[in-house]
Amino acid sequence: MTTVLVIRSSILGEASASNQLVYSALSNLQVANPAIRIVERDLGTDPVPHLDADAAIALKSDPINSVQEKARALSDRLIDEVKNADILLLGAPMYNFGIPSGLKSWFDYILRAGITFRYSEAGPEGLLSGKRAIVVLTRGGFYSEGPASVMDAQEPHLRALLNFIGISDVTFVRAEKLAFGPEHREAAMAKALAEIVAELPPALATAA
Ligand SMILES: Cc1cc2nc3c(=O)[nH]c(=O)nc-3n(C[C@H](O)[C@H](O)[C@H](O)COP(=O)(O)O)c2cc1C
Repeated sequence: MTTVLVIRSSILGEASASNQLVYSALSNLQVANPAIRIVERDLGTDPVPHLDADAAIALKSDPINSVQEKARALSDRLIDEVKNADILLLGAPMYNFGIPSGLKSWFDYILRAGITFRYSEAGPEGLLSGKRAIVVLTRGGFYSEGPASVMDAQEPHLRALLNFIGISDVTFVRAEKLAFGPEHREAAMAKALAEIVAELPPALATAA
């Protein structure tokens, strides 16, 4: 059975554009594939804590106190969710040109030497290969081309993080100009949803 791991990271709940796109894509998926396994993690409502000294130790060596044990257990759980998924569907808003801090924290618990990546003579090697990721990028402005494109620290950062752990089959769907007025927003949302649905494997997708 195909497992889809859904990660939402907006702080805006129901009003969130990325959440709305992810929810709509999931409804489509479930209608077409009632048996599909969906695992959801909402970093907006259930945040992963920022790294601290105990967590940094726990991710590198054996925990020596209960705080470190808790951090290690959280990291193990989050990594297991990724390991058990065939497809990652990530909702990733742009906040201040980059990804939400909550999503960065999630990656901080996922990138673990010897577990999700390792260094070999050939350089760093990601250990979570064989998965694909569909990343829904939402932005108030327009960064795909033109003068603002150099300010985009969202898409390249996400590509680097995913590639580093071995997920190189990554599709980015951009909903841009969301702050340019209702018409732009509606058009961008409809286009993005159609793109997400088209990106899902044929057996899983249905028309937008
Ligand atoms: C704290 C914050 C910072 C933002 N920073 C940017 C930004 O740097 N560039 C941009 O184009 N839009 C920015 N926006 C607009 C969001 O990208 C836009 O509202 C998008 O819909 C957010 O996704 P979400 O609705 O899923 O949270 C920002 C919004 C918030 C709340």
